[in-house]
Amino acid sequence: RITPVILCGGSGTRLWPLSRQSYPKQFVPLMGDETLFQASAARMSGGDATVAFAPPMVLTNADFRFIVTEQLGQAGIDPGAVLIEPEGKNTAPAVLAAALHALQDDPEAILLVAPSDHVMPDPDAFRAAVARGLGPVRAGDMVTFGIAPTHPETAYGYLELSAPPQDGAPVALSRFVEKPDQARAAEMLEAGNYLWNAGLFLFRAADMVTAVEAHAPGLMDPVRQALDAAWPDLGFLRLAPGPWSTLEDISIDYAVMEKAANLSVVPFSGGWSDLGGWDAVWRESAPDADGVVTSDHATAIDCRDTLLRAEGEGIEVVGIGLKNIMAVATPDAVLVADMSRAQDVKRAVAVLKARA
Ligand code: GDD
Ligand code: MG
Repeated sequence: RITPVILCGGSGTRLWPLSRQSYPKQFVPLMGDETLFQASAARMSGGDATVAFAPPMVLTNADFRFIVTEQLGQAGIDPGAVLIEPEGKNTAPAVLAAALHALQDDPEAILLVAPSDHVMPDPDAFRAAVARGLGPVRAGDMVTFGIAPTHPETAYGYLELSAPPQDGAPVALSRFVEKPDQARAAEMLEAGNYLWNAGLFLFRAADMVTAVEAHAPGLMDPVRQALDAAWPDLGFLRLAPGPWSTLEDISIDYAVMEKAANLSVVPFSGGWSDLGGWDAVWRESAPDADGVVTSDHATAIDCRDTLLRAEGEGIEVVGIGLKNIMAVATPDAVLVADMSRAQDVKRAVAVLKARA
């Protein structure tokens, strides 16, 4: 069985005002009734003949711990270990803590690290891709999942394929390039032999520990100590703040993936979005023939290519004659912006923070 490891420590500022520091996007029902976190846990639960999942391990911070257990409960999913990070140190320390923790119970443990804030509308295609990754994992590789790129995105990792992919079969990676600049991203798009990194990783826990020892050895001692001195608290496992505070803040992509040689990619074409802004939410919400998306209590009159959302009791949103606009109203904040400026929403959050 594969143990899912769900990372949900991020704060998702580009989806303000729905996503807040105290209640970030992964815990909000952004698409349909389920939250992204619930959908992501559901995608990796149970399983079928090809792939079976153990209860998910969750890594989060103290503020979100009860949201995590409540939302898993609602979704009818029993959590495995829930590890509480004393502070966010990015994904590399979190992944290493998950791997070391898993090894305490099972030296053969296979982990599937997944973000909590993505949309993957086809769970069966996803599980089939995971099953295809098990071959390379058993041969000692760490497996990534690759998405066909559509534009020179600089917010993603790029996976250089050593050979053309065939029918979704795994391919060895020649290189992993995290968050390239615009020019480099355009080159890789043009070259045609790169896929986007979906942000999911499948590997044997022992292989990840070996990789961290080789490529980011400075993480080993503090994470080990934080686990050794961890204490149980209401069903959560609290990592020790002392050693954790000394950790470098670094993502698994930079710490390990860019450096490791034993990487494979499973090409994935079952639909994927990291909902990196309101424009992505609009795109993933099936706009009507006019390109309009409205939530309950939102009305569009003669609008085109527009997203209107009313969030919260007693709020009505009406748009008239709008083009290329996104508007999101919540009880205490309203965002109105040009759709092309979706990435600038994080600037609004910075401004508000500075003022507070
Ligand atoms: N527990 C925990 N602790 N989770 C964290 C932390 C942390 O300190 N930091 C981030 N996360 C969670 C986020 O909530 C998210 O679910 C996931 O880890 C990935 O972190 P992001 O910060 O969203 O990473 P990214 O989007 O910049 O880049 C990653 O994802 C891209 C695809 O969306 C990389 O893997 C890229 O290569 C990839 O293309
Ligand atoms: Mg992300």
